[in-house]
Amino acid sequence: MTVTVPPMVSGGLPVIGHLVEMLRNRESLFKRGYAEHGDLFTIKLGPQPVLVITGAEHNRVFYSETDKALNMQEGYAFLKASIGEVLFTASAEAYYNQRPLLQEIFKRERMVGYIEAMNVEVQKWLDALGQSGEMDITAEMLRLTQYVAGRALIGKDFARELGDEFWQEYAAISASLDPVLPPNLPLPKFKRRDRAKVKIAATLKRVIAERKQNPGQYDDLVTILLTTQLKDGTFLPEEQIVTIFMGLLFAGHETTAGQAAWLIALLLQNAEYRALVQTEIREKVAYGVQIDAGVLHGLDHLYWAIDETTRLRPSADTQIRTVTTPTQIGAYEIPAGWRIMVSAATSHMKGDVFANPDQFDPLRYAPERAEGKNPFAIVGFGGGIHKCTGMNFAKNEMAIITARLFQQFDLELLSREIHVVTGNGANHPSAVRVRYQRKPLRELTDAATIREAVAAGCPHMSQHAAAEEN
Ligand code: HEM
Repeated sequence: MTVTVPPMVSGGLPVIGHLVEMLRNRESLFKRGYAEHGDLFTIKLGPQPVLVITGAEHNRVFYSETDKALNMQEGYAFLKASIGEVLFTASAEAYYNQRPLLQEIFKRERMVGYIEAMNVEVQKWLDALGQSGEMDITAEMLRLTQYVAGRALIGKDFARELGDEFWQEYAAISASLDPVLPPNLPLPKFKRRDRAKVKIAATLKRVIAERKQNPGQYDDLVTILLTTQLKDGTFLPEEQIVTIFMGLLFAGHETTAGQAAWLIALLLQNAEYRALVQTEIREKVAYGVQIDAGVLHGLDHLYWAIDETTRLRPSADTQIRTVTTPTQIGAYEIPAGWRIMVSAATSHMKGDVFANPDQFDPLRYAPERAEGKNPFAIVGFGGGIHKCTGMNFAKNEMAIITARLFQQFDLELLSREIHVVTGNGANHPSAVRVRYQRKPLRELTDAATIREAVAAGCPHMSQHAAAEEN
């Protein structure tokens, strides 16, 4: 007998299928499917059959057929209602026309400015923590990554230019993301979303007008979007500048915040590996001096920990496509109209690719082991043409946050159990509560440097030197 459709996972309910489980805990749904049927299985979301795939061989088809036999935009239609039609939520034709913008925004030379912005905002956050206290890293990362995005994309006056309400309005849009309900139902959350979109558009239009009135005075995201030619030789209309800005925030904010919080949590849970990272930071990261690209380049152990966090706790744990032309995946020809989802939770746990996959073991990426080298084995940042263009931005940001935090504070993890919270956009950890104690200045740098910096009026060093004297 020829089997034409991949096997169905157990536990589906009449009419709604696996919908509720998908929204509440898709990791356990995908893991059960993998345990029951292996790399290829089907779930049902209402009437919609969805193929869930695991492993580099199938992931490769998913990414390389995107914009050919597989359509990206339909899968993310729910995002369109919140941020608008742009880049990966627009048609493939519009996406390729707008692609020069992504290349300009993320070109290597611009990373220097982004890294500077990260240094400033991370140090401001740490300075504001005082000498000791308790905090929830998950909540702190949500705020800190907003400030980093604001400074990196809008510039040093971002707080004044965006205004106090910007992030509240942004949160209202974020809370409205809903992959299930029709986005125009008259629900309070959708009404709040629509009001927030109007306010955000008005704020960003003021920012755009300021750039237009003073060309040459700014070198920020809005200026890039105003001045970079699209593939067809035209420039982006003003409405779409607002949409791209929002698109970048949505693609980069909760994903980075969730992953950064997991990184810190995993390091706190794994003392042996943390000691390697601490040594690396002590040897390579100078206190009071900017962490630049050269320094970041030398932090191998920290970047392996970032890669291991992406593998073990991916914040973008699934990605979606719609089949437009029947596509061969493994032994099955998947018909048009089906959805396909990549499952990072199971792809990243394959025992034939990763030794002891359940363990946090960043040394698996050291050259002598080099696990998971296949570009489609770890898919936390996607793959192929649409692979995350903000990946280096996010990794550098996580590295600077972690290096500075562990350099300047002793931390004790208070949360006993930390679990994955399934988000509508990105996953994140439950609360990561820590107790922190600032390290004495003399542990971070020598007495002469402290004296010199204080005499020169360095506010950062003066603040901490004064706090220690009291
Ligand atoms: C840890 C943080 C991040 C994670 C886990 C992440 C994950 C991803 C994934 C999985 C995709 C591919 C989606 C798909 O194929 O369906 C993607 C695309 C994208 N990401 Fe990220 N991302 C992160 C940070 C960022 C940041 C900080 C930015 C921008 C500042 C950003 C901008 C983008 C953009 C523009 C795309 C679309 C690329 C395209 O369609 O060509 N991301 N991201």
